[in-house]
Amino acid sequence: MTSTTVSSRPRILTGDTPTGRLHLGHWVGSLENRVKLQDEFDCYFIIANVHAFTTRVEKPAEIRESVLEIAADYLAAGIDPAKSTIFIQSEVPAIAELAFFFAMLVPFPRLMRNPTLKDEIRDKKLGDNYSFGFLLYPIGQIADILAFRPELVPVGEDQLAHLELTREVARRFDQMYCDVNPQTPDEDYVKAGGLFPVIQPKLGRVHRLVGTGGPGESGQLLKMSKSLNNAIFLSDDSDTIRKKVMGMYTDPNRKRATDPGRTENNPLWIFHETFNPDKNWVAEAQEKYRAGAIGDVECKKKLVEVLVALIEPVRLRRALYEKDPGAILAILRAGTARANALAEETLRLAKAAMKQDYLSRRLSFSAGS
Ligand code: TRP
Repeated sequence: MTSTTVSSRPRILTGDTPTGRLHLGHWVGSLENRVKLQDEFDCYFIIANVHAFTTRVEKPAEIRESVLEIAADYLAAGIDPAKSTIFIQSEVPAIAELAFFFAMLVPFPRLMRNPTLKDEIRDKKLGDNYSFGFLLYPIGQIADILAFRPELVPVGEDQLAHLELTREVARRFDQMYCDVNPQTPDEDYVKAGGLFPVIQPKLGRVHRLVGTGGPGESGQLLKMSKSLNNAIFLSDDSDTIRKKVMGMYTDPNRKRATDPGRTENNPLWIFHETFNPDKNWVAEAQEKYRAGAIGDVECKKKLVEVLVALIEPVRLRRALYEKDPGAILAILRAGTARANALAEETLRLAKAAMKQDYLSRRLSFSAGS
């Protein structure tokens, strides 16, 4: 799909905040789903660069670099720009405009009950110093989504609170401005005359992948995250993967003769269960592990093989794109044009529903240097 026409396949919208390269947690949480769903759905992938400013307002160069990194990761992971649309949030003005209107549909106390926002304030140690823009970002995310009127939104578990708010805004808008009866089942809002579908989240097969390190202060294994330094990236080469896996946390009390070891809550086995396609090997090796009949090193070496087989093709494809940043920019430009076509249509329809359709407009962008 190279033109700006809008496909009739049902749509998906999802994306990432550009705060670094993508890792295995992103892969099983959502990226793998996106690659699979490309044929069946018309997919829109947003690189949410404005959101990146909520926590790194003083690092614009880093954000810019990260936008290109994420685009390279998407393409390397198998997102096909001939089928799917990759675009940059800040270049789609309809999103910001919709966000302002949507902000009116979310009571402030409701926003402040959003558990994802609370977790972020705690985990990122924002204290009382978060900006107004930080509070605004879930509203921006509602606009990121609804501007594309998608059916499905594939995300990780931590995003569910934002999607629930998105569903509430869609219902509220449709009831208030499109005369949809509040008794309408969620899946029928568009059929009942609503502009916005009450979107469905789609979780990946692993909701929260652990990192390669040990447990945190709470005693629980920590989530894979760049900032915790426990991530295996889709751009890691085989040597790096080997080092990370061979040094990874397993069962600290394991002494093969006296305390053979646990497979549960053990990152080595969580990774095997998640990534090793040879289920028989995993089942047999786990049994041996619990009996002290197989060493950590052997199981880790096997895991290196499994992860290299998964990541190496991605890394090689990424290296090709890295040699040609112009190609990535061209893909982002074409994707952003398609995204604008659809988001502008949504904004036009939303304004008409709100009786604020005074003028017509046509956006025009020219390629930057
Ligand atoms: N907030 C999401 C994250 O940090 C990224 C994001 C922005 C997003 N806009 C979105 C995800 C819209 C899904 C849909 O991961």
